[in-house]
Amino acid sequence: MKVLLLNASPKKTGATQEILRTVEEALPKATCGELVCLGDYQVQYCLGCKTCYQSGCCVHQDDMPVLLDKMDEADVLVIAAPSYWADVPGQLKVFIDRCTPFGDTNPDPHRHTLKPEKRCYAIALRTGVRPGECQHIIDTIDHWCGHMGVEMAGSLYFCQIEGKEDIDRHKPAIREKTAEWFGGD
Ligand SMILES: Cc1cc2nc3c(=O)[nH]c(=O)nc-3n(C[C@H](O)[C@H](O)[C@H](O)COP(=O)(O)O)c2cc1C
Repeated sequence: MKVLLLNASPKKTGATQEILRTVEEALPKATCGELVCLGDYQVQYCLGCKTCYQSGCCVHQDDMPVLLDKMDEADVLVIAAPSYWADVPGQLKVFIDRCTPFGDTNPDPHRHTLKPEKRCYAIALRTGVRPGECQHIIDTIDHWCGHMGVEMAGSLYFCQIEGKEDIDRHKPAIREKTAEWFGGD
């Protein structure tokens, strides 16, 4: 089983990366995990031109096909995002917008779709106390899954996270959740 762990924070050394590293380490041995950081890829803003509604393709030429290929190859996606101004970071929003050629709102019958039977787990984190803001991020990822034909299989959130060091106390819970999602060895 292939698992793509997508860090939607622009930061590769922060709390989001640490959560995903913990999930990756806890994956069963038979599982192949790949951790990628959205910030490492050039993804330009959607222009709203809807050219993809006719051609199935985007007018931009950037790293989006690389990310799509990685998603397509994976059986399971784990998408983790911190709260930025009570929402997903801009990098994730731009990525979601750029999935328009592949979503079910694209009327082009020949559009490329992700392979079926893919499932996704969403992880949200924030510095503040109330969980509602994390739920909003999870709902955004859930909405993306709905239009991309991906099953939203579960979620996890953490409040009061300022940085990477705050993840240490949550590592047992992250490992437990990983075993619940993927099974143990
Ligand atoms: C630009 C920016 C905006 C943020 N906005 C919020 C916010 O609205 N609510 C909140 O609880 N935390 C907010 N945070 C804190 C981050 O969610 C928190 O520090 C998180 O751990 C960052 O993850 P990272 O270390 O992987 O980048 C913000 C951080 C940044 C850099």
